[in-house]
Amino acid sequence: MPILIHLTSKKLISQKEINELKKRIEKALKYLKLFHKEISLVFTDNKHIKKLNTQYLGRPYPTNVLAFPFAKESPSISNILGEIIISIEKAKEESKIYEIDFKNYLLALVTHGLFHLLDYDHERGWFSPFLMLKNELNLLNKIALKKDKKKLINFLKRREYMPAKLAVNVDHVATVREARRTYYPDPVHAAVLAELGGADGIVVHLRLDRRHIKERDVRIIKEIIKTKLILEMAIDDYLIKFAKEIKPYQVTLVPERVEEITTEGGMNLEGRVEEVKKAVKELNEAGIKVSLFLNPDEKAIKLAKKTGAQIIEIHTGMYAEAETDEKREEELNKIEISARLAKDLGFIVHAGHGLNYENIGPVAAIPQIEEFSIGHSIVSRALFVGIKDAVREMKELILRARG
Ligand code: PXP
Repeated sequence: MPILIHLTSKKLISQKEINELKKRIEKALKYLKLFHKEISLVFTDNKHIKKLNTQYLGRPYPTNVLAFPFAKESPSISNILGEIIISIEKAKEESKIYEIDFKNYLLALVTHGLFHLLDYDHERGWFSPFLMLKNELNLLNKIALKKDKKKLINFLKRREYMPAKLAVNVDHVATVREARRTYYPDPVHAAVLAELGGADGIVVHLRLDRRHIKERDVRIIKEIIKTKLILEMAIDDYLIKFAKEIKPYQVTLVPERVEEITTEGGMNLEGRVEEVKKAVKELNEAGIKVSLFLNPDEKAIKLAKKTGAQIIEIHTGMYAEAETDEKREEELNKIEISARLAKDLGFIVHAGHGLNYENIGPVAAIPQIEEFSIGHSIVSRALFVGIKDAVREMKELILRARG
């Protein structure tokens, strides 16, 4: 049962850790009755795994583990199961964030890769993630280090269900309706179809100038959807009263200027904490969760903590509009740091604005972000493939990035 381990740099992991890991993988192969099988492990860093992730899977960001089965391509060397590539840098970062013993976390990544080599694929259908996870948990129960084992198992169980939700904004269906001031297309129909496509929530922005969504839309959508309604709005006495009457699941507070084409930036909380706090309190007292739409900015997120809001939606617009790779990388980094900070401060973290089928992957790979709020790109694609498919495709991209 040879287990070949190759390190792209000696500094990544100690020989002692490698020897211990090897013993546990051997135990795993025995348990799985793979007595004559070989696997190759490559331990590398974020830069290298990003290159491979981009080249082979078209995902331009670092990941924790990649697995390449050999048997399918070359049945003649089928005693070699394949190669598992792990970014030790990423594994260390993640084990720290999730507060799981590094050795156990690494073992969990090897186990995940191993089941991929055995042809399990959590991306192949709705039930395959459950089957793959069940096998991984059974195996880890046998081979994980006692210390933290329970924590690791609970973490993996939770992570599999860790939300990577998609809330679909149907404003622009109403934009088309309002272009002719008629009664169609109806955002209510869009909301129902979005749910059938897999949306986890429906978002509507009741703007001060009512340029697209109207009160009637909000009322009917609240009545008929089966998921949750998220009402976006500015802080305004009438709108707060309206929200308290409708009782959406969540209100997302956004800054709003009548002249803007769409929401242009996150809220500026400087000097406004008391005003926002009052609105949050009033909405919370009516049983409504409150989210604040904020730029990926440390200062804004720390100020938000003083408002009592439960959720933060990180503005991804600057990332989406970045014109060069360097700028995009820089903006993505800001989103990642902000998501981590917000989560550490106890917020539920969402993200949105300007996300489309090309740029969603890197943002969806940020594990702290639980929900994505996406409108324009989905409604645009729906013109050609229909709402259900447009939503389904976006959701698949989100789940795939979560790998
Ligand atoms: N999140 C917020 C707070 C928004 O204001 C909007 C736009 O209404 C979105 C997300 C969705 O942005 P997009 O339509 O670009 O997907």
